[in-house]
Amino acid sequence: MIFLLEEFCRHGFDNDNPAAPCYRWPSCTSDQKGRPMAELVSLAEDLWAAEHPVRMPGGVRMDTRMTVVRLPGEKLWIHSPIPIDDTLAAALAKLGTVSYLVAPNLYHNLFLGRASERFPEARVFAPPGLREKIPSLRIDEVLSGEAPAAWAGVFEQRHVAGAPQMEEVVFLHRPTKTLVVSDLVFNIERPEGLATKLVLTMMGTRGKLARSRMWTFITKDKAAWNASVREVLALDFDRLIMAHGEVVAEGAKDRVRAVGLYL
Ligand SMILES: [Fe+2]
Repeated sequence: MIFLLEEFCRHGFDNDNPAAPCYRWPSCTSDQKGRPMAELVSLAEDLWAAEHPVRMPGGVRMDTRMTVVRLPGEKLWIHSPIPIDDTLAAALAKLGTVSYLVAPNLYHNLFLGRASERFPEARVFAPPGLREKIPSLRIDEVLSGEAPAAWAGVFEQRHVAGAPQMEEVVFLHRPTKTLVVSDLVFNIERPEGLATKLVLTMMGTRGKLARSRMWTFITKDKAAWNASVREVLALDFDRLIMAHGEVVAEGAKDRVRAVGLYL
């Protein structure tokens, strides 16, 4: 299932070069030509998101989301970067200075390298293991379960332990009570096309907020995972942003509890 997830997230590339062959699926292409431009959408004060349309071979649609938070000093924190072209960069420049680029797990790094080249002054944060996985990436600091000084006043963060293939780190934006996750849960309410529906059904995430079955297969230490889940559910959040699916604008804590994250 992890490989399926990689395909559908367009994760299966050696680096963030969209022209590079997919090492999971050689016939896979990452052609973004003709796609509509990503637009920043305001979700709350100092909080924006932009979606990147992704269509996989076979017609599977699996868009991915970048989240942007403005920190004090008009510093922008970019979570799970999507392709940032001149238009999107100009939109970001109106909000502040891109200061931090965050790869939130071992698979949401496809566009990290290009973002770090476009914003050489930004510091790049990544989960444990990404340096070893993709040595060509510039990574300045490794994420942990504790927020670094750079954003400790604004965010809390938790490392989702027990799944070394993912090493996901989730973030609580305290001012807006927003939990920002990547693949911890999906919420694709209106899947597009038969292939997408089929894949989401296999993952147990079709049309609803759900934890992918992928986690069941890749989690090596369920006690560590469950301890992490307890920590995440103890965070004070009301809104939920995930990489794939519809943002939950309010009441997210109860909905995430109902998902059944524990293994
Ligand atoms: Fe993903």
